[in-house]
Amino acid sequence: MRKNIVAGNWKMNNDLAQTEALLTELQSQTKTSNAEVMVAPTFTNLWHAFQSLRESGIEVIAQNMHFAENGAYTGEVSASMLKSIGITTVILGHSERRAYFNETDQSLAKKVDAALANDMRVIFCFGEELTDRKAGNEEAVVGDQIKNALFHLGAEAFKNIVLAYEPVWAIGTGETASPEQAQDMHAFIRKTLADKYGNDVADNVSILYGGSVKPNNAKEIFSKPDVDGGLIGGASLKAEDFFAIVNAF
Ligand code: G3P
Repeated sequence: MRKNIVAGNWKMNNDLAQTEALLTELQSQTKTSNAEVMVAPTFTNLWHAFQSLRESGIEVIAQNMHFAENGAYTGEVSASMLKSIGITTVILGHSERRAYFNETDQSLAKKVDAALANDMRVIFCFGEELTDRKAGNEEAVVGDQIKNALFHLGAEAFKNIVLAYEPVWAIGTGETASPEQAQDMHAFIRKTLADKYGNDVADNVSILYGGSVKPNNAKEIFSKPDVDGGLIGGASLKAEDFFAIVNAF
């Protein structure tokens, strides 16, 4: 079901004490929009955050997971382990994991399958590099990332998938995509889904924008018809800024 969603990707930030402080500040904020709110701490803080936010209306989600159920994968965490501590949504395919940890469309397809097999919701990330956009290839790149990792799925699966378009050149740079650039790509993504699965599926998938979303640009970006919210990095580390974005609908 298509919903407005604002998810905070904390990335590799906040030890336990800093997490506790931010969780306390988040709970003192007031939500005035209809957005679903999520935060993604690091693995070491997930259980604590889950317990702290249990009654808050803020969902705690994971930043990653492995595709195997268990076994000789030192340092990794499985979907069932995340489920065992109450985590039911996971971010997959973030450009930093593609860039630094060799995640491919093929390995991500396996992670998506594992998450769905464990009844988890997936926030699936993708986005072009600046060189792709300068060459006019942004739609081809994004289309391939979506098709290669998701188009083996049946229509039903998209009930548990949220898409997150994050142009790599806008992540952490302060170079936000313009609201028009975001809308153009989101409309292309929705049409790509509709061409494969029909309008019923395409019209009910939430498509989030990520890449330097801030309190001063969120409202205009979220006002676009095919933008259903945001995946927020830096601005999610300050409770006030994060809720200014949550309330920007
Ligand atoms: O996953 C969200 C992230 O990639 C965006 O980061 O700091 O540009 O909001 P930031």
